[in-house]
Order: sequence, then C-alpha cells, then structure tokens
Amino acid sequence: MQRPETIKVNVSEPSVTVSLASEKADRSYPIYIDKDLLSNAQLLGSLLGERSVCLVTNDTLSELYLDRVRAVLGADRKVSVVILADGEQYKTLTAYDQVLTAALEERHERSTVFIALGGGVVGDITGFAAATFLRGADFIQMPTTLLAQVDSSVGGKTGINHAMGKNLIGAFHQPIAVVCDTATLETLGDREFSAGVAEVIKYGLIADKDFFRFLIDNAVRLKNRDPEVLAYTIARCCEIKADVVSRDEREGGIRAILNLGHTFGHAIEKEQGFGQWLHGEAVAAGMVMATKISVARGSISSDVLDDLLLFLQCFDLPCEPPSSMTVEVFLSAMQGDKKVQSGRIRYILLSSLGDAAVVGDVSESEIAACL
Ligand code: NAD
Ligand code: GLY
Repeated sequence: MQRPETIKVNVSEPSVTVSLASEKADRSYPIYIDKDLLSNAQLLGSLLGERSVCLVTNDTLSELYLDRVRAVLGADRKVSVVILADGEQYKTLTAYDQVLTAALEERHERSTVFIALGGGVVGDITGFAAATFLRGADFIQMPTTLLAQVDSSVGGKTGINHAMGKNLIGAFHQPIAVVCDTATLETLGDREFSAGVAEVIKYGLIADKDFFRFLIDNAVRLKNRDPEVLAYTIARCCEIKADVVSRDEREGGIRAILNLGHTFGHAIEKEQGFGQWLHGEAVAAGMVMATKISVARGSISSDVLDDLLLFLQCFDLPCEPPSSMTVEVFLSAMQGDKKVQSGRIRYILLSSLGDAAVVGDVSESEIAACL
C-alpha cells in the first residue's frame, strides 16, 4: 500500500547522481536516499513504467520486506520473485544460475528490470545476472544494509565468488537507479551494521579528511544510529563514491583507491572461508594493515592510526587479522587478487589523510611488521 505521508522524495530530484556520460549514451543514474522508499509507489512507478520485474532477494529479507515491495509493484505488472539462500558462502555460480534459470523459465525478456532487494551479496549476484541475462538487462539496487547503501549498490561492480578467490567472476554493469530506504537499517543486526561502518570510515581515509574527523567525533552517535548522523553519513559516502566512479568507471586508475584494505581483506575472507568473517570485518583489519604501512612509510601521522583503531574498536570491529594469517598465507592468497598486474600484487596505501594511491612495492617485511 502506498503511504502518502511517507512520500518525501521528489522523483525528479535524486539525493545523489552518478554521472556517466559517454559518447554513445548518458548512463547517469539517480541514488534516492530517504526513509520508507520501499513503500513509495510513486518512485517505483516512475522508474519502472510498465516493465516486468524479476525481484531477487534472500530468505531473511523476504520475511521482512518482500510483501512491502511486492505491493508497490502493483497487481497488473508481471513480477517473478527469486529467493536466494542468505550468506556470503552462497555468492556462487549456483545462486547466479538460480536467478537466470528463474528468469528464463518465467519467459522474461530483455526489457525486464531486475531488482536486487538486500545487502551486498544479493546486489552483486543480481547485478551480474542482469548483466548477462539475454546479453544485458536493466537492474535497480534496493540496498538494505549499511554497507550496501554506502558502497556496493553504487558503481556497477557485480559478481560472485569462486573457490579460488573473492569476486573473481563478474562484470561492470551499472544499475539504472539506487533506491536506498534508510528505514530498513532499523532491522539490521549490530554486527552487520558495524561491517558497513568499516566501509564508511574508508571514505574519510581515502577522500575526505573532514569527513574522517566528523566520523571520529560522532562515533557514538553513529553507533546509536542517530538519524541525523546516519543520513549525513550515507549521503556523504554516496557522494564520494559517485564522484570517484564518475571519474573512473572501470577502475583504470583512481577508482582503485576504493579498495583500501581490500587486498588484505579479500585474502582474510577467502582463507577463513567465505561467510566466516563479514566482508566489512575483513576490510577493517585490512585497512588497519594498510594504515600501519602508511604510517611506517611516513605518509601519515600515527595519530590517524590511533583514531582509526579507537573508532573500529567502538564498533567491535577487528583491528588485526586472525593469527593463522601469516605473511606466506597472505601472499599466496593475494596472488589471486583481481588487482594483480604482471604477477605483481598491488596495494592501496594512504599518501596523506584524505588521499590514497596504488602501490606495487610493499615488501614482505612491511607486511610482517603490521601483523
Ligand atoms: P550481506 O548482503 O551478506 O548482508 C549481511 C546480512 O544482513 C545478511 O544476513 C542479510 O540477509 C542481512 N540483512 C540485510 N539487510 C537486512 C536488514 N535490513 N535487516 C535485517 N537483516 C538484513 O552483506 P553486506 O555487508 O551487505 O555485503 C557484503 C558483500 O558486498 C560482499 O560480498 C562484498 O564483496 C560485496 N561488496 C560489493 C561491492 C561492490 O562495489 N559491488 C562493494 C563492497 C562490498
Ligand atoms: N568497492 C570498490 C569499488 O566499488 O570500486
């Protein structure tokens, strides 16, 4: 049911726009950020017109939000629903095949719009399915975790894991819109919320020192999910990500800085077994490692590291990798990272607070020193 009192978004004015103009077409898309957008029939209607929908979610989210979204899609529209098993360990070829098989069996056409209702796992799988369905269909991201709202729903990286490593199979495929209903965070568990906070502080470190300071100063309010702090935080992260993606959609250069902590983090996720450490937890530990190396190289002051550690501890995020992760284990796992070039592992380090760069010359002893 449409709830008119909750409609605050002017559909012609998104909160943030990802600008992706090219010679062939303007592929820019809006990010709408507000409370109760999942119930906003006006917004969904304006994005979809009369197009059919293949709605993908998981067995946790379906209990919480499927009825609400199904209701605003309307009774007259063809809608298929695919419910995946919940968890990073299911971000696999099998889940990807489940989405495609359902869409094919239900005779969807290229004009169908896929909708990803869920966190980063559902978003990445659905986006990849949309990228490859009949050689490419549109999709809309409806992120329901903090991590997905500030990061994974924006920028068009889609994909699945492989036993050989994290996100090794995928495609760049931009959504046609991101509908970010901040009220969904009310049902998100503390551990999952904290995992999103790891990606939030990343933006301050790599791109905006004032935002870093804001987060350090407002850690407790953020932890308490203060609506004002949360709204500003989500919008600022989306602005930064939209700006970076607009400048370098396919990670030929600057976009790589969004991977601060990820080279180490992906190795942790893989070695611990997908789903054991949440992505954001692994990124937190990886970000500390990258920050320690940056301090040791004299690029940033140790005060930044101290602030980062206190901040992460406030959210019960891990500040170091598991003890089983020796230098050798890291190096072996990182050889399979997507950023490896000519056999060389590439790392993201801080060049100053609010700025980062890709570096290829991190030595074994530098890694050993931050374990
Ligand atoms: P997730 O999708 O596994 O969600 C975490 C948990 O929260 C799941 O159990 C989920 O069912 C549950 N959940 C989601 N929304 C909820 C809600 N509103 N209420 C209650 N429970 C809810 O994990 P995530 O942290 O959202 O995403 C991590 C994934 O995102 C990783 O696979 C990572 O690789 C990917 N990622 C992708 C990008 C990108 O650019 N594409 C960027 C960062 C991360
Ligand atoms: N999360 C890294 C990126 O989107 O590029």
